[in-house]
Amino acid sequence: MKIIETVTDMIAWQRDTKKTFPQDTIGFVPTMGALHKGHLDIVKRSQNDNHKTVVSIFVNPTQFNDPMDFEKYPKTIARDISQLEPLKIDVLFLPRAEDIYSDGKNFSIEEQHLKDQFCEARRQGHFQGVMTVVMKLLNIVSPHKIYLGEKDFQQLQIVRDMVNAFFMPVDVCGVPTVRDHEGLALSSRNERLSADGLRRARIFAKALRSAQSEKEFAQKLEKENIRLDYLDEYKNRRLAAVYIDNIRLIDNVEI
Ligand code: PAJ
Repeated sequence: MKIIETVTDMIAWQRDTKKTFPQDTIGFVPTMGALHKGHLDIVKRSQNDNHKTVVSIFVNPTQFNDPMDFEKYPKTIARDISQLEPLKIDVLFLPRAEDIYSDGKNFSIEEQHLKDQFCEARRQGHFQGVMTVVMKLLNIVSPHKIYLGEKDFQQLQIVRDMVNAFFMPVDVCGVPTVRDHEGLALSSRNERLSADGLRRARIFAKALRSAQSEKEFAQKLEKENIRLDYLDEYKNRRLAAVYIDNIRLIDNVEI
């Protein structure tokens, strides 16, 4: 596993690779680190589909509307590297914010439709940050395919729409959500939950799957003192966000 830390070196690697192995495909898995089995499943899927796989770890400052949330985002780079090493990916890309935002955050991507719904309505600017960093990373890594989790369903959709809107030469591939034995979607944020928070998070996941109505869902959360941020339906999915121990968790299930 080659570790690349600068944009220039990453561009050089993909250009050389494409020249030397013109038939090979490159799969790309962007992450913010604190890797868990959900991330690793995506990496394996990319390796299965492609000759080469690039994983990035970059805690993107522009997608956090709350600076405290950015500060508190778990950073576990040594552990992340030790989880990726046995998988034998080709490149781990670890760019620095100064390099990614060398334009001084002067440019960004905007979207008009989804931005007033679900997560974006509550976290203004979040998807602008996501789209901007994903476009930058795609231009740097230049993969044939990008892999994103269905766990972040609105993110997957918005990246798909962006790629179509800008005629970007990459396939967007969605990967099913990985859950723990009790059905809770794995998330880097789960690490910040207390033991009781974890128990309540599992109740949230179960209620999302089983509630027959919005009212029933809200009642189940209220009983556990879980604050609902939103519950909505979109593209045959039930999407929700809640706060537990002041930590925001999102999930979605097929209806
Ligand atoms: P991050 O939260 O690290 O997630 C990286 C990828 O892993 C995303 O595509 C996410 O949907 C996926 N993922 C997370 N938990 C998952 C689970 N339990 N099952 C399956 N996939 C899961 O999402 C981001 O980072 C960032 O917004 C990013 C796209 C990297 C842009 O900064």
